[in-house]
Amino acid sequence: MHILVADDDAAIRDLLARGLRGDFNVLLAIDGNAALTALETLRPDAILVDEMMPGATGTQVLLRAKELWPDVPRLLMTASSDVTAAMRAVNRGEVHRFYTKPLRLAEIRRAIIELVSRARADAALRVELLALRAVQSFSTQPSRVAILCEGEIGERLERAARRRGFNVVRALRKEAMEEVIGAGGCDVVVVDVDVGDQNLAEMTQLVRRVDVGTSLILVDATGSMASLTKAFQFGAVDCLMPPWLDDVMLSVRLERAAARPRERSELRRLTHDLVAANRELAFANRRVEEGQVKLLGGLVRALEARDPYTAGHTDRVASISVRCGSALGLGTVALETIRVGALLHDIGKIGIRDDMLYKPGRLTPAEYEAIKAHTTIGARILEGIESLACVVPIVRGHHERPDGRGYPDGVSASDLPLEVRIVSGADVLDAITSTRPYRPASGVDEAFEVLATLAGGQLDADVVNALRGLHREGRIDDLLQHDQ
Ligand SMILES: [Fe+2]
Ligand SMILES: [Fe+2]
Repeated sequence: MHILVADDDAAIRDLLARGLRGDFNVLLAIDGNAALTALETLRPDAILVDEMMPGATGTQVLLRAKELWPDVPRLLMTASSDVTAAMRAVNRGEVHRFYTKPLRLAEIRRAIIELVSRARADAALRVELLALRAVQSFSTQPSRVAILCEGEIGERLERAARRRGFNVVRALRKEAMEEVIGAGGCDVVVVDVDVGDQNLAEMTQLVRRVDVGTSLILVDATGSMASLTKAFQFGAVDCLMPPWLDDVMLSVRLERAAARPRERSELRRLTHDLVAANRELAFANRRVEEGQVKLLGGLVRALEARDPYTAGHTDRVASISVRCGSALGLGTVALETIRVGALLHDIGKIGIRDDMLYKPGRLTPAEYEAIKAHTTIGARILEGIESLACVVPIVRGHHERPDGRGYPDGVSASDLPLEVRIVSGADVLDAITSTRPYRPASGVDEAFEVLATLAGGQLDADVVNALRGLHREGRIDDLLQHDQ
């Protein structure tokens, strides 16, 4: 489940991200504008926003959310001083729940889960109603009746059918009747048994060949009981004999034959099954996509865990990258791309020989060349997975440099997306502050001195600035002091 959380207060964002992460995939927006941008491209399962934010207020964001995704549950957080705005929004139907700060996380989590499952059940019900309506509209199309029957009963059948709104075709001879049946689309075929058994058999066969769902009614003016056996033999659904029914009862018999209850209920059942299967498929696809990221992330972690020097590297790079992207004002979609891309950036190391990967010392130039291939191997691993296409540039490009001297493509700053430059910065920062077999970890201040010398050459200057800003505000030091 994806939940979009918007609050300009980083401490509250962190609190909510930590508190909701177990149940939800939390997408963070740093202000009203970021939340609005995210909503344009992504349908979350629930939205939780703060009222007072720069860019757009919470109620403005929720109003837009209601226009774009009317079924998605909307929750508002307010300081106790602006309860009136929240109440107004509740009364206008823009907000499903509102909470005053300080927040009670457990209560919010429960409410979101309940609202999301109710919204999903409602959506499922709406789809089923649509399907039912489609089936009904299908069955209320006027039924088509073909009649080969002369005399008084022929006239009365035609009259009764027309009164019922049926589409009626009278045929006077067997050949004409066969033409009508052959054209298809008949719901009911009425035939007088006086055409003779041979003709009856031919016509019945034709009916079955053209449309097995067509109902056959036999008419026997002589009233012989043998006709009932004949009706059974030819698979007719009804047999009319004197004394003739009145017009109303005749039309009821025609209606019943046209209803073909077995086919209709079968169609309805099939439609239900189809709708349910589609819904299941959509949920399953989403679970598969989330599962793919988890599985690949797990592989990378397993790879790192074999080497004490790299354990925890990708998780830290992902956290540093997301905080840096958020400081640079990126929206939730870009931040999610960064998170997954950073988590998987070194996945190509799966394809590198262990003796090089875990070499306890400096690499020879040849070994270094071989290790560089982890960027292209990683890109190849992910290229086949459609839902991960957006992170391939990060995996391939995380060792590129703004000065064009990186690898594997040697592209320069203008060709490097910001997401890639952010992950590169975080990757280098984590490497400097981590112990390596051939050198100890640098202290945090010392690491930023090194980073400053790399700005504009190996690393993007804006990214280095943003990282330094986070460090000054004490917002990433928890991630950098693991080896000190
Ligand atoms: Fe790498
Ligand atoms: Fe790395």
